[in-house]
Amino acid sequence: MRASLLIFALTLATTLQLSLGQDVSCTRGDGKPGYCMRKSQCPKISNMIKQRRLRNSYTPEEITYILNSVCPGSKELVCCEDDEKVAEGLQMLRDQECGVFSFAKTFGGSEVELMSRPWMVYLTINNNSTTHMCGGTLIHKRYVLTAAHCFNGRTLHSMRLGEHNLLTEPDCKVKRGRMVCAPRVVHIQRGQIFQHEEFFKRALAHDIALIKLPQDVVFTNSVRPICLPVNETLQELATTMDKFFVAGWGHVRPNVPSTLLTETIVPNLNMTDCYNSFNGISPLTTSLLCAGDVRHDSCSGDSGGPLSHVTELYNGVQRFVQFGITSFGSPKCGDHHPGVYTKVGSYMRWIAYKIATK
Ligand SMILES: *[C@@H]1O[C@H](CO)[C@@H](O)[C@H](O)[C@H]1NC(C)=O
Ligand SMILES: *[C@@H]1O[C@H](CO)[C@@H](O)[C@H](O)[C@H]1NC(C)=O
Ligand SMILES: *[C@@H]1O[C@H](CO)[C@@H](O)[C@H](O)[C@H]1NC(C)=O
Ligand SMILES: *[C@@H]1O[C@H](CO)[C@@H](O)[C@H](O)[C@H]1NC(C)=O
Repeated sequence: MRASLLIFALTLATTLQLSLGQDVSCTRGDGKPGYCMRKSQCPKISNMIKQRRLRNSYTPEEITYILNSVCPGSKELVCCEDDEKVAEGLQMLRDQECGVFSFAKTFGGSEVELMSRPWMVYLTINNNSTTHMCGGTLIHKRYVLTAAHCFNGRTLHSMRLGEHNLLTEPDCKVKRGRMVCAPRVVHIQRGQIFQHEEFFKRALAHDIALIKLPQDVVFTNSVRPICLPVNETLQELATTMDKFFVAGWGHVRPNVPSTLLTETIVPNLNMTDCYNSFNGISPLTTSLLCAGDVRHDSCSGDSGGPLSHVTELYNGVQRFVQFGITSFGSPKCGDHHPGVYTKVGSYMRWIAYKIATK
């Protein structure tokens, strides 16, 4: 029994490793994150090879470096830290105007002001003949960020950008006696989905995905990107913030879906408290964030949506920065268990590399 299990596990491991192909993320022998690619495409290693042709030998440091560059399951590929591509992707994110919001206040209750969260994306996903929804965020004119589990065996049905009330079109509100309407919703039917390559290895780890849009979206008052934690200063805020905003069209109460974009404030929990609230049974890692309490939690429909906060550390003006992606929690919202979020800051290299190369 043990042996056959072991053989099964080994076969599974080999199959998984064989599937590690080009551009798949990997961990180098020295612990640094990288991507599998051909030697010729890896700047650092192809330079070493050029140098060796001149000198006719590698230095001991180069040998160590190359030995640490194994791409699991592939002899042709190396695990390369492609810092240039990551830097290029981060620059693409920094170069745009993001996280700008017109109104921080919400309407009575939890409904947000019209056009105040212009990065929110309403995703519908096909599962055979049924569809379900997930949230997402516009992070760039070409990319939407969401959770990988949204696409587990399912396909994208459509995306709505600049949405507020799911049932009306256009969406209008009376403000100080005047009718204000948002631009028409942008419907996008296609997108290329990139789930994190290691998402399948362990349930609900690396729960992050990007959707590449078929063309650049045009920014309007109701369609704009949110900022991401593009450097360590911003990444560290995720652990020091005392609360976050969670937005979405998810259930306001168990089994009661909302037709309006709503937002809730959830307290940030440290990992000790989080771990204890799951009775220590949850596979919590440092690439997760934990937030919420009995009364304030995101609900199932909010999967893929943002955990965010306003900070002045982004170019010195108040901006919305997304720190988390709603990943999992208990199916009943607000029942003593906090919500668990993918920590965006831990995946900045993955995001940056993808948007610079895909
Ligand atoms: C698809 O939908 C069926 C019925 O609604 C459900 O039982 C099943 O778990 C869903 N599968 C996935 C992969 O979501
Ligand atoms: C999808 O639905 C069809 C018809 O209802 C059914 O025959 C098929 O087995 C379903 N496939 C999956 C993967 O659930
Ligand atoms: C976690 O937060 C609680 C208060 O909510 C505090 O008592 C505890 O010391 C904190 N633990 C760590 C490791 O910061
Ligand atoms: C982090 O990035 C933001 C946005 O580009 C910038 O305003 C801030 O100065 C950066 N902080 C550091 C320490 O580099």
